Amino acid sequence: MSDILTHIDAGVMTLTLNRVEKKNSITAAMYGAMADALAQAEGDAAIRVVVLQGHETIFSAGNDIGDFLNAPPSTPESPVFRFLRGIATFPKPLLAAVCGPAVGIGTTMLFHCDLVCAGDNAAFSMPFVNLGLCPEAASSLLAPQMLGYHRAAEALLLGEPFYAEAALDVGLVNRVVPPTEANTVAQAQARKLAAKPITALIETKRLMKKGQPAILMERMVEEGASFGRMLREPAAREAFTAFMEKRKPDFSKV
Ligand code: COA
Repeated sequence: MSDILTHIDAGVMTLTLNRVEKKNSITAAMYGAMADALAQAEGDAAIRVVVLQGHETIFSAGNDIGDFLNAPPSTPESPVFRFLRGIATFPKPLLAAVCGPAVGIGTTMLFHCDLVCAGDNAAFSMPFVNLGLCPEAASSLLAPQMLGYHRAAEALLLGEPFYAEAALDVGLVNRVVPPTEANTVAQAQARKLAAKPITALIETKRLMKKGQPAILMERMVEEGASFGRMLREPAAREAFTAFMEKRKPDFSKV
């Protein structure tokens, strides 16, 4: 599909979010396309590394808010949950190049990547509370682990953005480069990895993450149940309607 561009070259599959006019917000169809691509990459011996990237001005504005309003995910087989399981259990190296805003799942998907290259314009945010929602993608577990509890609380409770240098400090990203170079640097690293013995890469990643997948799945199921319920509650409906109507939400009655 044109909102997700898939390119395979020299053992590297690159998935490009390509809905820039809507700030690369992600629809169910886009999650589905990415989940299918990850499954293909896992099964195809010719694909050794996957890179997720956006545009140099925007990584992703998170879930499409129209979809949240009109077609919220309802079952574990919903495309968003398939995508989340895909990135959480992907056995081969998974890289990301992130420039500009990375909102909601635009940030939480990075917790599941092995290497992240950020443009110096990257702005990471997880504004779930501001939308009447709770964390997803096991970020309620991974954000405190990676950022430390107080920084995670700041990011998840206040929902305010943090920037490339702060992300570098806490280890959410590996390096910060000019936005025009982020995709190129990620590609160069992907090519380096693709030239290494794949069995050693897979085994090393498996050992580093040993024990995690089951814990992450359990947390994702719990988060997914709360998130699915909260999507339909008045606070979230008000937040989404306000966004569509380009006004500030009024939570005084919810
Ligand atoms: N879902 C659907 N459409 C979205 C969107 C989203 N998550 N984010 C942006 N868009 C759309 C806007 O509605 C707008 O569409 P229009 O041109 O038809 O009016 C277009 O993308 C441009 O967005 P705009 O807000 O004008 O861009 P900006 O540069 O001023 O701000 C963001 C960029 C990412 C900071 C801002 O769009 C934003 O905060 N988006 C919502 C993020 C969010 O809450 N996501 C859910 C996380 S769980």
